[in-house]
Amino acid sequence: MKTVQLVESQIELRTRARILEISDLTSQIFLLKLGCERFPDARAGQFVNLSIPGFFLRRPFAIADLRRDADGSVELSVIVARVGGGTITLGDLPAGSEISLLGPLGNGFDLQQIVAEQSAQPILIGGGSGIPPLYLLAKELVARGIKPQVCLGFRSADAVYFAAEFAELGAAVTVTTEDGSFGVPGYATSILPQYAQNVFACGPLGMLQVVQKWAAHAATVALQTAMPKPKVQLSLEAHMGCGFGACLGCTINTVRGLERVCLEGPVFESKDVYFAKQEVHA
Ligand SMILES: Cc1cc2nc3c(=O)[nH]c(=O)nc-3n(C[C@H](O)[C@H](O)[C@H](O)COP(=O)(O)OP(=O)(O)OC[C@H]3O[C@@H](n4cnc5c(N)ncnc54)[C@H](O)[C@@H]3O)c2cc1C
Ligand code: FES
Repeated sequence: MKTVQLVESQIELRTRARILEISDLTSQIFLLKLGCERFPDARAGQFVNLSIPGFFLRRPFAIADLRRDADGSVELSVIVARVGGGTITLGDLPAGSEISLLGPLGNGFDLQQIVAEQSAQPILIGGGSGIPPLYLLAKELVARGIKPQVCLGFRSADAVYFAAEFAELGAAVTVTTEDGSFGVPGYATSILPQYAQNVFACGPLGMLQVVQKWAAHAATVALQTAMPKPKVQLSLEAHMGCGFGACLGCTINTVRGLERVCLEGPVFESKDVYFAKQEVHA
């Protein structure tokens, strides 16, 4: 019964979109702009599940940007890394093609604490294809008069994208590259200070594990110095089936038990997540 309700509730989130433009940001990453006649309001951190011709399962992508016109139509941007058959096919679709999408899905970032305490500058840490949801987040923060500090991590200079777009929003941007070929050499996490009140991160598992470790340390610093507890939000990825809570294909372990990345997530507080796999990342 619960599954039927979930499926029915998602039918309302199904819409058709027209590909307005596909443009390469790097050799691996492209920006896809979609036009939708109608699309509900979305929060940064939510995602859409796109149907790609020839592929049975929809593919999830974070909403990178959303602009609503006066007539209510919406231009939706997603940023996609070509990693397999679905994303390669998606990137080759001609402008004007129609695709089906479900969204907005998932919970999105929680900005309540930020609104209440504008003095604490939020830090946004993004790695590789985890950067897209942070763009809409930065935009929402700037719209509230809060200037975030953004650190974007890439493997090398040729993988860098969207740094200028974040800067144009008014964010303070640092770029790191693992091979030192652009910006600050090292990982995006290297800019994290001893303590910060609000941190948002999205990227590879190894990066998120470093942020989680940092968060535990920052919580201790907060206790010792009577600072507010840090709130550290991680946007996770998981292999997905349905994308709306029905198939249980995307569950992860949390302090509350098993939770679905697509429904209870993709954004989780760092202190609540048990990562299944340990990856080494400096
Ligand atoms: C909530 C959410 C938001 C996402 N946002 C973005 C985004 O903004 N931009 C973006 O480029 N990608 C994003 N992804 C990942 C994206 O959905 C996958 O890269 C895509 O589905 C791969 O499809 P494919 O057919 O090209 O690759 P496949 O042939 O299905 O797989 C190719 C390779 O990618 C890996 N892969 C596939 N799906 C995932 C996944 N969900 N997570 C991690 N690895 C995966 C596979 O293990 C395999 O190694 C997101 C995933 C989730 C769950
Ligand atoms: S993808 Fe089906 S429950 Fe999350």
